[in-house]
Amino acid sequence: MPAITATACGKLILFGEHAVVYDSPAIAIPLSSLKVRSTIEPAIGQPQGRIHIKAAPLGIDHDLSELGKDHFFVHTLELLFSFLGLHQTPTCRITLASELPIAAGLGSSAAIAISLLRAMSAFLGHPLKPQELNTLAFQSEQAVHGRPSGIDNTVITYEKPIFYQRGEVIEFIQPIREFRFVVADSGVRKSTRESTSQLAQDLEADPGIVQPHLDAIAELVQQSKRSFQIGDIEALGNAIDANQEHLSALRLSCPELDSLILAARQAGALGAKLTGGGMGGHMLALVTPETEAAVTQALISAGSPHVFTTRLHPRE
Ligand code: MEV
Repeated sequence: MPAITATACGKLILFGEHAVVYDSPAIAIPLSSLKVRSTIEPAIGQPQGRIHIKAAPLGIDHDLSELGKDHFFVHTLELLFSFLGLHQTPTCRITLASELPIAAGLGSSAAIAISLLRAMSAFLGHPLKPQELNTLAFQSEQAVHGRPSGIDNTVITYEKPIFYQRGEVIEFIQPIREFRFVVADSGVRKSTRESTSQLAQDLEADPGIVQPHLDAIAELVQQSKRSFQIGDIEALGNAIDANQEHLSALRLSCPELDSLILAARQAGALGAKLTGGGMGGHMLALVTPETEAAVTQALISAGSPHVFTTRLHPRE
């Protein structure tokens, strides 16, 4: 078996994170410039069925058998082996590298699972079809987050902008004009499981307070889908700010994110909000070609350790 390398990109949720867990729609785009890469090579001379995995970003350099059976890697590979009806695991070495920061709102867990599933299925001579990959990645996400909506694995599998609602047909979106987002790291790391668990508890304890915010976010997502279609950048900026107000009221922001969001708005961003699980991780700001440099500089000056721009390309 030849060595195989497969990649998966990151993602950026533009609208609707968290509410999407409760069956509201959300909009997400792929971050094709940031990849997770999995390489699998045969381990000649090693005991039959031994899999060694080296994943420097996660501090792992172990045989799979040394990781607990509930470990993310073990679980994800077992999902694949069982799907393929494999009785004997392959003897191989897996090396995983990531340009995506972990627990930072950019979809690292889904991207790791997808790159691994892509690489291992190809290594075994049975490359997965996109729908199969998406289903297995969702099952892998369930072990990590408990109750994922499925948006991360879907946008990363298809690597296209999506309007996503659990249980509905995936809608691929392409606006009529280009949109630019400056993205900045708050430097704070927080697992999605933590933020989704907190929201689930808040919703149970106080549905009268929490549910109206989730409903308002769902409405903003619907409005924003139309704004993308007609290219209304002002409306999108306002919706981004409004989405952030609701996320903040739901205790999903943090002081570091708040200060980056304020800096971006003061530097001319049309709207700014957290993205992904929140309580840390990254924020995004909607900019124009005229304001991109000033917003980037403001975010660096406000202390972000990593600032970059991503674009949503127009329909051809
Ligand atoms: C995480 O990237 C997005 C959340 O909405 C969780 C999910 O959709 O599974 C917070």
